[in-house]
Amino acid sequence: MRVIGIETSCDETAVAVYDAQAGLLSHRLYSQIAMHQAYGGVVPELASRDHVRRLLPLVREALADAASARESIDGIAYTAGPGLIGALLVGAGFARSLAYAWGKPAVGIHHLEGHLLAPLLEQNPPDYPFLALLVSGGHTQLVDVAGLGRYTVLGESLDDAAGEAFDKTAKLLGLPYPGGAALARLAENGRSGQFVFPRPMLDRDGLEFSFSGLKTAALVALRGRVLDDQVRADVARGFQEAVIETLAEKCRRALKVTGRRRLVVAGGVGANLRLRERLEGVAREGNAHVYFPRPEFCTDNGAMIALVGCLRLQAGENHPETATARATWDLGH
Ligand code: KG4
Ligand code: ZN
Repeated sequence: MRVIGIETSCDETAVAVYDAQAGLLSHRLYSQIAMHQAYGGVVPELASRDHVRRLLPLVREALADAASARESIDGIAYTAGPGLIGALLVGAGFARSLAYAWGKPAVGIHHLEGHLLAPLLEQNPPDYPFLALLVSGGHTQLVDVAGLGRYTVLGESLDDAAGEAFDKTAKLLGLPYPGGAALARLAENGRSGQFVFPRPMLDRDGLEFSFSGLKTAALVALRGRVLDDQVRADVARGFQEAVIETLAEKCRRALKVTGRRRLVVAGGVGANLRLRERLEGVAREGNAHVYFPRPEFCTDNGAMIALVGCLRLQAGENHPETATARATWDLGH
C-alpha cells in the first residue's frame, strides 16, 4: 500500500508519499509564512489561493523524490479538517480530482489525528495505547489513544491554545508572526525568576488548560518598561516557563489518572526543546517513556497525513466521493 498525503489546512502546502512496507519515501513542504508575515497572521483568502498555485508542482516533486510513478500510488489522503475552510477545500478538491483521474480511493483525514500519530513515522515508534499531549497553534489537548481511531479527549484549553499564546506574546515582544520558535530562542538569553507568570489552572483538579491570561500577564509586565533586549528575553523566559510548567503538571496528572506508560508529544509547540526536556523528566518520574516526532513533523506536514491515510486505507476505509471538508471537527467524532 502506497499513499500520497496532501495537507492544506492552514499556511503550509505539504505533500508526502508513504509506503506501508518501506515507510516514508518523500515529503515536500512549501511554507507561506513570508507572505502572511506582512499582515501579522494568516490571511485565509491568500492561503487558499497560494495552495492552488503550489499543490501540483509539489505533487510532481514528491513523486519524483520517491521515485514513484503515479501508477504505483494506491490511494490519496488529504486533510479534511479542522482548519481554514477555503484552504481545506483546495486540498480536498485537488485530492478528489486526483483520485478520480487515477482511479484510486481518496480518504479525508482529521488534521489532529495526523499530529497524534506523527511519532509513528520515527524509529522505535510507540505501541498503543498511549497518552498524547497535542500542542499546536490551534489546539491544546490531552488525548488518550487506545488505537487507530480510538481517541478520548481528557482535557483541553478553555481559551487560547498554547501555540496561540506563544504567538500572541511573541507579537508583544516585537517578534514576527508566528513567533513561537523565535520567542523560544529569545528565552534562552532570559534570566529565570525575573518575571514570574501565573500557572493557569494548576490550583484546580482536572486536565483543562487556559492560556489567554498569560499574554495579558506579559502585557502588564511589559507596561512602562524600557524594552531593551534583556527585559524582552527575561519576559520570554518567564512566559515560556509558565507554559511549560503548566503543560508538564497536567501531563503528570494525566499519566497518573490513566496509568499509561507512554507519552506522545505532538503539534508545533512540541518542537520546543525546553518543553521536551521537561516532559522527559515528567515521564521518568512516572515510569513512562516519552516519544516526540522530529521537529519538522511536529509542525504541519504531509507525511503525517500520508501515514494516517495509509493506516485507514489498510483498515478498509473508503470515503464517498461526496465527502467534503469541515472547518470544525471534534476528534473522535
Ligand atoms: O502544529 P502547527 O504547525 O500548526 C497548527 O496546526 O496549529 O503549530 C504551529 C504553532 C505556532 O503557534 C508556532 O508558534 C508554534 O507551533 N511553535 C512553537 C515552536 N515551534 C513552533 N512554539 C514554541 N516553541 C517552538 N520551538
Ligand atoms: Zn497542525
